[in-house]
Amino acid sequence: MNIPIKTPDEIEKMREAGRQAARVMEMIAPHVQAGVSTGELDRLCHDFIVDELGSTPASLNYHGFPKSVCTSINHVVCHGIPDDAKKLKKGDIMNIDVTVKTADGYHGDTSAMYIVGENIQGERLCRVTQECLYKSIALVRPGVRLSTLARAIQQHAEANGYSVVRDFCGHGIGAGFHEDPQVLHYDGYAPEADATLAAGMCLTIEPMINVGSHQTKVLRDGWTAVTRDKSLTAQWEHTLLVTETGVEVLTARQEEDFTFLDH
Ligand code: MF3
Ligand code: CO
Ligand code: CO
Repeated sequence: MNIPIKTPDEIEKMREAGRQAARVMEMIAPHVQAGVSTGELDRLCHDFIVDELGSTPASLNYHGFPKSVCTSINHVVCHGIPDDAKKLKKGDIMNIDVTVKTADGYHGDTSAMYIVGENIQGERLCRVTQECLYKSIALVRPGVRLSTLARAIQQHAEANGYSVVRDFCGHGIGAGFHEDPQVLHYDGYAPEADATLAAGMCLTIEPMINVGSHQTKVLRDGWTAVTRDKSLTAQWEHTLLVTETGVEVLTARQEEDFTFLDH
């Protein structure tokens, strides 16, 4: 396994990529309303990334993915394909996953959950899943093993009666969209895959947490991953930089409070 250590120059480019991805999330949030189609949300993100940011939506044509962002509703775990015919309705929960590739060639990858109207079970699931992400982010610093992050996520999810998706993982990120290492969200590392973090590494953590069983399947479109038991599922993702003293959340949004990382 070769985990790239970013140079100071690359780190600046990753900061810019992360900021841009966060700006897409901030832009799209007010548009997530009952009645809007996921195709329309995709167009808004695409046009913002291209016209306002001067960057590229990294998901578009990535291994043949047909759209610029992923929109994953209710029992869709990840990689949902935006569709003009798919309109949001009250009670839906949805993940939007945005990856920007800057003109400099660096990636920022982030996703968040949106709740349309009210969904009590969905709100709890989304909150616990975000807590899983935050608890693992808080552990990131040089010398920590990936399995330590995974165990924190799994413990919090299972303590709340949920399960952790095993079929998809986080990843290193940089000039490549998906670099080494694989970042699992459950305690399933082979010894040689359980890397130790070092300053200058960039990675995503992106736990997918299910109300029911952890099992997933991919639909015949080749992308849409769903829970096998059709149970509700949620995901949050950030791109992180390992610093000498801890972590920098490169895709942090304005609304987020990361002061819990200062210590
Ligand atoms: N953004 C996703 C991730 O977090 C990958 C999406 S690939 C796509 O790694 F092709 F489905 F867009
Ligand atoms: Co990712
Ligand atoms: Co992503």
